[in-house]
Amino acid sequence: MPPLQEQKSGVLSEEPSLDPQRLPRHIAVIMDGNGRWAQERHLPRLAGHRAGVESVREAVRTCARLGIPVLTLYAFSTENWKRPPEEIQELMRLLGYVLDREVEELHANGVRLKTIGRIAELPEFVQTKLRAAAERLKDNSALLLNLALNYGGRQEILDAVCAARDAGLETLDEAALSRHLYTAGLPDPDLLIRTSGEMRLSNFLLWQIAYAELYVTPVHWPDFRRKDLLEAIAQYQRRCRRFGGV
Ligand code: IPE
Ligand code: IPE
Ligand code: MG
Repeated sequence: MPPLQEQKSGVLSEEPSLDPQRLPRHIAVIMDGNGRWAQERHLPRLAGHRAGVESVREAVRTCARLGIPVLTLYAFSTENWKRPPEEIQELMRLLGYVLDREVEELHANGVRLKTIGRIAELPEFVQTKLRAAAERLKDNSALLLNLALNYGGRQEILDAVCAARDAGLETLDEAALSRHLYTAGLPDPDLLIRTSGEMRLSNFLLWQIAYAELYVTPVHWPDFRRKDLLEAIAQYQRRCRRFGGV
């Protein structure tokens, strides 16, 4: 694998329409549509989740090569516990498998790993693998891969308020609340991508996306390739962000 600097210029020269000065600092993705992808192929839903792993690999690699500092992937929501137990079990097993198998590739790409969500409620074997992967990757600095697992935006805000109270804070302002969120210290997402067409947030990063640019594509997650990510970034760069100003 060539050094990161070379990779970076490589990707940008392949994609001359991207302005390297105006890349998002944080991209967040609602990876949706695995089930529909499988259904369209008369395959079990698990086949869609499995196929989605390649899209994760490609998104991580592309963000690392572009020099995007943070990529947050919504992998399991607090509401996803409503799914059939077999699907949940398969998702957890797949997560464990991917963590084991991908950690060295992530390391080679300079990726660091963080999780957001109520991790303590995940199966013990998943927590163990997450801890091992985070430890292996802790000294990397190219891309922070932030996995949202058992994550809910409302729960995060509640947890932050409780943490601030427990820390003895008597008054709370935006900065103080942000410091108690799971994402403390991270820039807010500049770009929120949702695959598979639904026009909703599904309880994702409710506080942090106050001014994110939204990009919804009909492409199902397992079909979301590097070119789709580059197109989302290109469209982001064409937006005029006013933040309430003129
Ligand atoms: C996203 O795909 C993966 C997770 C939520 C874990 P879905 O499984 O939600 O796929 P659809 O929405 O049913 O097509
Ligand atoms: C959002 O997708 C959660 C993840 C991608 C992990 P869902 O498929 O769970 O969302 P809804 O049910 O369509 O809102
Ligand atoms: Mg879905």
